[in-house]
Order: sequence, then C-alpha cells, then structure tokens
Amino acid sequence: MSQVTQVPLGRAPVAPAPTQPVSLNINGQAHTLHIAPWTTLLDALREYLDLTGTKKGCDHGQCGACTVLVDGKRINSCLSLAVTHEDSRIQTIEGLGTEDKLSPLQQAFIDHDAFQCGYCTPGQICSAQGLINEGKAKNEAEVRELMSGNVCRCGAYPNILSAVMEVMQNEGLIMEDKAWSAGATEPEIAPVEPPKK
Ligand code: FES
Ligand code: FES
Repeated sequence: MSQVTQVPLGRAPVAPAPTQPVSLNINGQAHTLHIAPWTTLLDALREYLDLTGTKKGCDHGQCGACTVLVDGKRINSCLSLAVTHEDSRIQTIEGLGTEDKLSPLQQAFIDHDAFQCGYCTPGQICSAQGLINEGKAKNEAEVRELMSGNVCRCGAYPNILSAVMEVMQNEGLIMEDKAWSAGATEPEIAPVEPPKK
C-alpha cells in the first residue's frame, strides 16, 4: 500500500504559521494583509502585494536594494517588520512617479544612464529621495558618503552620482559650480594616435 508523506522524513508536522491582520498604507493606497507577525516589510511588499520593484539583495541590511521610504525617511525594508508600520506612509519605487510623469530622480537616472543591470536602481532612487528629504548633503563628498549604503555590483556609481547631483542642484540643495547635467560630466577621451609604421 502506498504511503503519502506530507512532511520531511524524521520531522514532526509543522503547524501553520499564525497570522494577524495588518493594515498598511502603500503609495497612497490602503491594504489589509493577513501575515505572520515576523514578515518583513520587504516580503510583505514583494510576496503579498506583488510590488516587486523593491528588490531583495542580501536580506541582511548590507546592500540597500530593498530601500523604501517610510514617512519620507529611507529604511532597509528587509530589516523592518511589516506589523510595525500600521500608522506609516510607505512609498516604494512604484509610488515615486507615474509612467507618464516620472519623478525627477527617475528621469535623471534615465538621462544619465545610471544603471546597467538595474537591480540596485529602485533602492538607489528611493535612497536618493530619502537623502534629499533629509537635507543633510551639501556637496559631492557628502552625497557619496550618505549614499554609501546602496551598493551597485555593476559599478554604475559615476552615473548614479551625476544623476543625484543634477536633481539636487536643480532643487537648489547643492551649491557647486560643477555642471551635473546629462553629458556634462562625461570623461574626456583622448584621441588615439594611429600606430607609427
Ligand atoms: S536586501 Fe535589504 S539591505 Fe540588502
Ligand atoms: S546597475 Fe547592476 S547592480 Fe547596480
């Protein structure tokens, strides 16, 4: 007679995880989820709401790919439990702009070609928006330092920096003479001399 195995051999059956209702305000929309209390905000967004713009990189607070805005402040959503945000206003990359009207940062990332694979990009943009909201960075060095929690494995940092700097300059947050508009910061490439015969 055949036997149906419902749990891994040698292990006791596991009771279903307890869930609780959690109300979240995400990108201006109210959602009620029934989730285990230990569900991270990142998993709530991706696994329960299909808001997959927010990326899971390390899942340990090391890479910044999961950055979202909570009441205007940037956080690593992999390190934060969804149940703690019931009274918060959560913004993800999907809520920063629309397809018809991108946010200034989204547009600048396109103008400056500030990505390669794009995996870090939503986190970079949300983090840059948080940086702007904080109002602490006043020059290039401070922008570099305060964006250092967002890792780009493709190494698109020069173009990410120029995109962020352009938006901050346009908003009067950076007072530097250097022009950061798209194309203005391209490195000059010296002409290649033909080999001598
Ligand atoms: S996935 Fe959250 S910091 Fe890397
Ligand atoms: S663009 Fe690929 S990781 Fe940043």
